[in-house]
Amino acid sequence: MKVTVVGAGAVGATCADNIARKELCTELVLLDIKEGLAEGKAQDMMQTAALLGFDTKIVGSTNDYSKTAGSDVVVITSGIPRKPGMTREELIGTNAGIVKGVAENILKFSPDAIIIVISNPMDTMTYLALQATGLPKHRIIGMGGTLDSSRFKYQLSQHLGCSPADLNAVVVGGHGDTTMIPLIRLATWNSIPVTQFLSAEQQTQIVNDTMVGGATLTKLIGTSAWYAPGAAGAALVESIVRDQKKLFTCCVSLEGEFGQSDICLGVPVTIGRKGWEKILDCQLNESEQAAFNKSADAVRSMNDVLKTL
Ligand code: LAC
Repeated sequence: MKVTVVGAGAVGATCADNIARKELCTELVLLDIKEGLAEGKAQDMMQTAALLGFDTKIVGSTNDYSKTAGSDVVVITSGIPRKPGMTREELIGTNAGIVKGVAENILKFSPDAIIIVISNPMDTMTYLALQATGLPKHRIIGMGGTLDSSRFKYQLSQHLGCSPADLNAVVVGGHGDTTMIPLIRLATWNSIPVTQFLSAEQQTQIVNDTMVGGATLTKLIGTSAWYAPGAAGAALVESIVRDQKKLFTCCVSLEGEFGQSDICLGVPVTIGRKGWEKILDCQLNESEQAAFNKSADAVRSMNDVLKTL
């Protein structure tokens, strides 16, 4: 199995680190446009192999896509991260060109790859990758909801005083501060609805804190977060290469599901060797569906910006 991570910044390098530690592939290529960055980080990670005991071979490359040839899975993290006060959407002008170029180069050398998109604004970059490559829809997966759902579980665990791993909770819709929808009504603590244990105020706070999870970290750190985004990317890679068919919320092409078409948006999907395999209908109630439609409207107007670039 061969995996490529494009972009050796904090998110890409963390994703690669997680992939190597879990030995998800025999060869892992880290590629970046900046001279020496990917080679340096790849070597640094390889120098942890003896300490951590993994056999994945990590290769760095400065923009030489021939090194990525024959990849089974490619994770795209390229683009600029947001600065404090910026929305993910403000990155579109710069990142659209970068992501389009990366997707086209990847396809030249790895025509059968499954592509995971992490770059922001993630919903629009996923849509762009789908259009630019013309790949079957099942092979283009946007990571956002996987990260947001993990942040939702973190917030819930803080209030419930429980293990995040004991929670089932999903965030659907867009990967934006105002477009994501943490579905607290459906969240469970090992099958018991979490709403039984939380006041209305606590529920509102958990939902709000989840929605601004990324922005909160950007303010604290001074740039976009990387540990959870990198781990979320690696979790998707794991489900693909091990054909686990795990259920994640991912940004995928909708053709009528959840009442939407011609858009990529976060919904619960199973992830396996063929990419995203099945969309699960989580039976949104009226207000959740209204929020989902509103989220779709916002993402659609961002997708429209692509035509003007
Ligand atoms: C975040 C970025 C990766 O939410 O979108 O941290």
